Amino acid sequence: MAGRAAPWRTAWITGGSSGLGRELSLRLAREGVRVAVSARSGERLSELTWGQSNLLAVPLDVTDRTAVSEAHRRIVAEFGSLDLAVLNAGVWHPMRATDYDADRAVQSMAVNYFGIVNALDVLIPAMTSAGRGHIGLVASVAGYRGLPMAAAYAPSKAAVISLAEVLRPELAPRGIVVSLVNPGFVETPMTSVNAFPMPFILKADDAADRIYDGLVRGRFEIAFPWQLVAMMKVLRILPNALFLRIAGRMAV
Ligand SMILES: NC(=O)c1ccc[n+]([C@@H]2O[C@H](COP(=O)([O-])OP(=O)(O)OC[C@H]3O[C@@H](n4cnc5c(N)ncnc54)[C@H](OP(=O)(O)O)[C@@H]3O)[C@@H](O)[C@H]2O)c1
Repeated sequence: MAGRAAPWRTAWITGGSSGLGRELSLRLAREGVRVAVSARSGERLSELTWGQSNLLAVPLDVTDRTAVSEAHRRIVAEFGSLDLAVLNAGVWHPMRATDYDADRAVQSMAVNYFGIVNALDVLIPAMTSAGRGHIGLVASVAGYRGLPMAAAYAPSKAAVISLAEVLRPELAPRGIVVSLVNPGFVETPMTSVNAFPMPFILKADDAADRIYDGLVRGRFEIAFPWQLVAMMKVLRILPNALFLRIAGRMAV
């Protein structure tokens, strides 16, 4: 897909071994960006980066703060500097309130929210001292409002959305751009477990192109597809009584 040239020389993508992160890493590499790709599975990262001079495998678990900090140090040593970081690693554990499980809820928060927190802890000081940088936080339209089956997932994504809103204006004067990525349904290993209908579902390469384009333009929110985004944004502004009636119907 032709598009705008990448304004970054180097990038770090977490959750890059499959799905959206993998496609975005490949897109950035095709645009001439040197990309460090992280996930837990070193084997899948090696398969992805094998023979690709612009891709560097940096395995890590985003819930391990020390490992995240060491990975960042390694990437900066290898690349000289880091221009873009897309914090995309995530897990989806479908969970109804009637099937509530603290382990799944805690793990969702640990990866989807605290995984981002761990990376910000090293990225913000480094980018602040460089006086430039771009950070993309991957949340979801599921973070707009709590919906059935998302008792573990939605709160973790709502937290990311809130964090991005805090960071963008405070980091802009330091030369750091913060973008928030809110995808709808995308065909990836994550959604392959879903038995329910997924309206307006996109291919992963199409979604990655949309993310790339939004990042290049320096957008705050990169949300797609518009049809699902519009539906979810309407739910967000509905009065609670009406929203809860609709959510109650979706839950049965
Ligand atoms: N697909 C969708 O419909 C959709 C919609 C909205 C938002 N999103 C969000 O988009 C992001 C990417 O999702 P996806 O659909 O591409 O899912 P995916 O194919 O399952 O990819 C998830 C990635 O995260 C990595 N990961 C998971 N736990 C990790 C950990 N503790 N440390 C490091 N890496 C970890 C996985 O690799 P390892 O297992 O090897 O660690 C994998 O590379 C997620 O944040 C997801 O919530 C997806």
